Amino acid sequence: MAIRNIRQEGDEILKKVSKEVEVIDDKLQTLIDDMIETMHKYNGVGLAAVQVGILKRVIVVDIYDDMGPVVMINPIIIKTKGEKEMDEGCLSFPNKFAKVKRPEEVIAEYTDREGKRMRVKAKELLAQAICHEIDHLNGEVFVDKMIPGTLEYIEPKEK
Ligand code: NI
Repeated sequence: MAIRNIRQEGDEILKKVSKEVEVIDDKLQTLIDDMIETMHKYNGVGLAAVQVGILKRVIVVDIYDDMGPVVMINPIIIKTKGEKEMDEGCLSFPNKFAKVKRPEEVIAEYTDREGKRMRVKAKELLAQAICHEIDHLNGEVFVDKMIPGTLEYIEPKEK
């Protein structure tokens, strides 16, 4: 496993639409392992493949509960319920935080890394993370949909 380089704000790849995964092969499994390791290294709750420069519809999310990291290939939201203003950040925008409206609950469908089609009902932070990462697969980032006037910029710490 390896830590991958996270593409940062201003990188044009973040605006691109990722492609459906057709084959789950060793290369994809390595990508998934690296994405999980990279997400954990930076204490993220989610990461999309495009953020490590790969335009494939793969996301990983982890809200650090009993479920552990969830790998979602070709994920789609099939149902949403409610709406809530949530604080949000992104590993590609390390110093920016803002409020974004997200559903309180979602039902998502995805293929797991064994190739099985799965369905999950997610609430709050997990729902938010899934929506945020699926947005990445469509070339959308949270600062595009933030509630105006809520952007906060945190100065990077001196190294
Ligand atoms: Ni993000």
